[in-house]
Amino acid sequence: MVAGQPRKVIAVADATALARAAADRVMARIADNGGRIAICLTGGSSPKQLYELLATDAYRERIPWQRVHWFIGDERFVPTSDARNNMAMARGIFLDRLAPVANIHPIPTDTANPDAAAARYEDELKLFYGASKLDPSRPLFDVVLMGAGPDGHTASLFPGYPAVEETVRWVVGVPKANVEPFVPRVSLTLGVLASCREMLFEAAGAAKRAILTRVFSGENLPAAQARSNGETVWLVDSAALPEDFRGS
Ligand code: 6PG
Repeated sequence: MVAGQPRKVIAVADATALARAAADRVMARIADNGGRIAICLTGGSSPKQLYELLATDAYRERIPWQRVHWFIGDERFVPTSDARNNMAMARGIFLDRLAPVANIHPIPTDTANPDAAAARYEDELKLFYGASKLDPSRPLFDVVLMGAGPDGHTASLFPGYPAVEETVRWVVGVPKANVEPFVPRVSLTLGVLASCREMLFEAAGAAKRAILTRVFSGENLPAAQARSNGETVWLVDSAALPEDFRGS
């Protein structure tokens, strides 16, 4: 494993500034790579504004859509017609209008169970990467977007679950969620999520402050364990920012 740099926390004023800062960071990573680009999206509500922004003229015109591939870090095991499906949310906001369909890589949810979906997505990721072992000098993703849940989960890696410790599988089925929505999940594992040039967390709103305080104080939670082998950045708005970081 390549040792990643320490986590960097960037404070911004509010959710709007946060989406803009995230979009600018995604654009910078895109501009850095003249070849095939891979971006791993996330679910939940936090990235919605970012996705909306990427669809606006100011951003969409600068994205080389033919060269960018879009993956998802975790999925709720519900049909794509279900509003809780993470990739369906991203598709509805921007991908279906702008990205070539061959460049959109959803986690399937039409398999017999989450384990079968995980196995299929793992095969897809390995095919895309061109190897079944990750080479630390050649990250799978340019950017991995992440969020943190109230229990300290990230992707669908919940505290204390065996999925957090998984080091062989690239993708795992998670039979039971720890928080809403209580549907089975499919999640990329920490080592695979780490294979990126930048892991970018977004956290906004006062409801996030308690869990961010725990994550940043070094508690052993999945959201704290999740690190890029490259750069790990937390974009946090002023309402979510823990006391210790205020005024710094
Ligand atoms: C999911 C997510 C999950 C999310 C966090 C934060 O499928 O629910 O991928 O890991 O990022 O729970 O969610 P919010 O952005 O809604 O707070």
